[in-house]
Amino acid sequence: MITSFTHYLKTTIEFGNGKRHEIKNLIRDRGAGKVLVVCGPTVYKLGMIDDILEAVGEVGVAAVVFTEVEPDPRVATVDKCGELCKNEACDLVIAVGGGSAMDVAKGAAMLAANEGSIHDYLAGRGEDIKEPVNPSVPLIAVPTTSGSGSEVSECIVIVDTNKIKDIMFSPMLAPAYAVIDPEMTYSVSKTTTIHTGLDVLSHALEAYSSVLNDAVAELMALEALRLVFKSLPKCVNESDEEARNEMAYASLLAGIAQSKCGCVIPHAASCPLTVYHNIAHGLGCGMLQTATVDYNRDVCSEKYRKVLDYIGETVPEHIQAADVLIRKIKGLFAAIGLEEKLDLGRLTEEELKGLASDAMMDDGVNVNPREVTEETLVRIYKQSLK
Ligand SMILES: [Fe+2]
Repeated sequence: MITSFTHYLKTTIEFGNGKRHEIKNLIRDRGAGKVLVVCGPTVYKLGMIDDILEAVGEVGVAAVVFTEVEPDPRVATVDKCGELCKNEACDLVIAVGGGSAMDVAKGAAMLAANEGSIHDYLAGRGEDIKEPVNPSVPLIAVPTTSGSGSEVSECIVIVDTNKIKDIMFSPMLAPAYAVIDPEMTYSVSKTTTIHTGLDVLSHALEAYSSVLNDAVAELMALEALRLVFKSLPKCVNESDEEARNEMAYASLLAGIAQSKCGCVIPHAASCPLTVYHNIAHGLGCGMLQTATVDYNRDVCSEKYRKVLDYIGETVPEHIQAADVLIRKIKGLFAAIGLEEKLDLGRLTEEELKGLASDAMMDDGVNVNPREVTEETLVRIYKQSLK
C-alpha cells in the first residue's frame, strides 16, 4: 500500500540545453528593476556569468555582482551578500554555481527582506531560532554542477561561528525558478564531477532510505540512482554530453527527493569531515554509503531490493540485498577511479568520538530508519576510513 503523503514544489523548473538563454524572459516577466548575481570567484573568472549579465543588459536592467562565495560558506559571507542585496535594493537574485553559491544567494535573498544575521535562523540554535516573516527576494538558481540539488530545495547549509555545518529550513528559501542547463556543466573538472556525482548518489539513496514518506519523491530517487550508476562513469571517463545531461537530470531528481524525504547517516556524518578535515561534501557522503547500507541492512532490506530491481539487478531470494547494493556501490567507485575507503591518516578514538558528537547534532540521524547513537557513528567512521 502507498503510504499517504503531501507533495508540492514551490520552484518552477526549466530544464534543457540552452535554457540559460531564456533567463532574460524570466527577468522581463518578473519586471525586475535591479538584479543581484551571486557566484564564486572561479565561476566569475571562467566567464560563466557572462551570458547572464548579457541577458540582464538586453532587457535594460541594472546588475550588481557578488563574487565572494567560498566552498562551504560561512555566516559572514551570507550576511555580507544579504546586506548588498538590501542596500542596492535588488528585487531579483540570480545564483550561478554549485551548492555553495546557491545557498549563499538563497540566504541573502531571505535576509534582504528580513531582519538579523543568517546565524539567527540556523536550526542548531534550538528553541531560540528565528523564522522569516517576509517572503524572500525572488531567486533564479542556475546550477553549474550536477550535485547539490539546492536549486529545488527549501534549505541551505552554512558553517556557523562554532565551525558547525548548520542548516536552515524554510519554504521562504525555495528558489522561484531553477534553470538547469546541462551545457553549464560540460567543462566541470573530473574531480568535481566525481564529488558532485557522489552527492547525487547520496541524496537519492539516503532520501529513499529515510523514514519520511513521499511516494513521488521516492520514485524520483530511484530514477536518479539508475542514472547515476549508468551515467556517472561516462561523465568521469569520457566527454560524454548525453551522460552530462543525464547527470544534470539525476541531480534535479535527487535534489527534490532529499528536499522532501531528508538525508540520513552519511550526510550527518560527512559534515564534520568537511569542517575539520577539508573533505569535499560529496566525497565524504559517498564514502560513508556502504557502511550505512551495512548498518541499515535489516530495516531497509525491502527498500534495497526495490532499488536493485529498479536499476536492473536481480537478487536471488537467499542473498541479502544490502550485500548486492554494497558491491554495486563499490563497483561504481572502481569505475570512477576511487578507492573504497577515505584516507584521513590515523585518527584517535577521542577524535572519532568528537566527529560523532558533532554529527549527532545533524537532523539526518533522526530520520535514519535505524536508531543512531554516537557509538553507531564511530563504528561507521571506522568502517569507512582507512
Ligand atoms: Fe549533499
